[in-house]
Amino acid sequence: MSEENNSKSKLWGGRFTEATDAFVQRFTASVEFDKRLYKADIEGSIAHATMLKQAKILNSDELKQITSGLHEIQNDIESDSFKWSIELEDVHMNIEAALTAKIGDTGKKLHTGRSRNDQVATDIRLYVREEIDYVSLLVRRLQDGILDLAEQNTDTVMPGFTHLQTAQPITFGHHLMAWFEMMQRDFERLQDCRKRVNISPLGSAALAGTTYPIDRDLTASLLGFDKASNNSLDSVSDRDFAIELSAAASLVMMHLSRFSEELVLWTSSQFNFIDLPDRFCTGSSIMPQKKNPDVPELIRGKSGRVFGHLVSLLTLMKSQPLAYNKDNQEDKEPLFDTLDTLKDSLMAYVEMVPAIKAKKENMQLSAAQGFATATDLADYLVKKGMPFRDAHEVVGKAVAFCIEQQKDLGSLSIEELQNFSETITDDVYDVLTLEGSVSARNHIGGTAPSQVKTAIANARALLA
Ligand code: ARG
Repeated sequence: MSEENNSKSKLWGGRFTEATDAFVQRFTASVEFDKRLYKADIEGSIAHATMLKQAKILNSDELKQITSGLHEIQNDIESDSFKWSIELEDVHMNIEAALTAKIGDTGKKLHTGRSRNDQVATDIRLYVREEIDYVSLLVRRLQDGILDLAEQNTDTVMPGFTHLQTAQPITFGHHLMAWFEMMQRDFERLQDCRKRVNISPLGSAALAGTTYPIDRDLTASLLGFDKASNNSLDSVSDRDFAIELSAAASLVMMHLSRFSEELVLWTSSQFNFIDLPDRFCTGSSIMPQKKNPDVPELIRGKSGRVFGHLVSLLTLMKSQPLAYNKDNQEDKEPLFDTLDTLKDSLMAYVEMVPAIKAKKENMQLSAAQGFATATDLADYLVKKGMPFRDAHEVVGKAVAFCIEQQKDLGSLSIEELQNFSETITDDVYDVLTLEGSVSARNHIGGTAPSQVKTAIANARALLA
């Protein structure tokens, strides 16, 4: 039996008479993945120690030793000279053992009045709060990029699709502003989730609270939490906030996956609507002509793992009895991978969107095919007094005629158009043009260039 594998050397080894099985040690350890919580763990410990000093459980000298010991440990970790040990199971016990090794017995007082259960809950909340702030910033930067691109394209006409079939002409600026709206909802969801993240579980101890005269409001405010949690059992076992964040992250990834799908389609030679610079694409090892939109494709693919993590976390929490269970250790990898994937994907979009070049002529040419102004012709007939259903029928016949003659509606002569309805006069050509069609949709949320400009101005004010 090796020295390290002896339970007696563990922080909780007192009641054990035999060593932990080597497999169990490896199986139960989380330090490989939870060490990234070190900053939150140290911050939480300093706040806890500060409160213990106020409660006269530690004296000033002890607090000073603990605080400077923890700062040294943080430096050691950040300069890569800290020795993480799997025998010490997790980030919390690694840091606590290192503190005692550094400052002696005073280090052993740090854990007074707390448990790893409230400690880990505090750490994850601190970690997640910082990540939410960073992710929110990325969402804002992406929104900025979308607005700039939309501004350059308020008048750029492209086909709008339903069922991926040409439906009606729209402006590219309008299409981009739809992306802005999705990101805005994502931003708001993250901010809303942050409210429930920012509650302090510290002081809940193992599950029932503690017998020491602790001041939970003090630790909450030292750590920047809005308040201390209401119920100790709930606080040590609640991971709703992680699930909520994963749900919010899943929605961001779902949106990015939709953007990605459009970028993939639009860069194809069949659409040829945009150019994505070479730096976001890769070639094929066999087909020399290829320029593949790998970055959007990969983001589309990565949405799957984030959705999977959401289901993992829900399943992890389902049926857990109160209060803390070791199951909860499994919350970290899905949560961390969700955040890593989300940050990378958003970062890619922050870089990619400003680099998108609209091929305006191709968009316009494509919008001119596929009878995109058919609805406008029907609306024109309605305005001349025809019931909408009849107008729909008349235009349907005109479209069938065009298909047969290989023409579009705008290139039919006035005589040809009048064969379908005598009410049609020369002014019909105003509505059959793409520009006329988009400009006519001039109301809140419509695609008219003037509306898109207003939408952009409103969005800029929102971000200011
Ligand atoms: N590593 C543990 C986790 O991530 C810390 C809490 C352990 N608490 C316990 N009672 N075993 O959940």
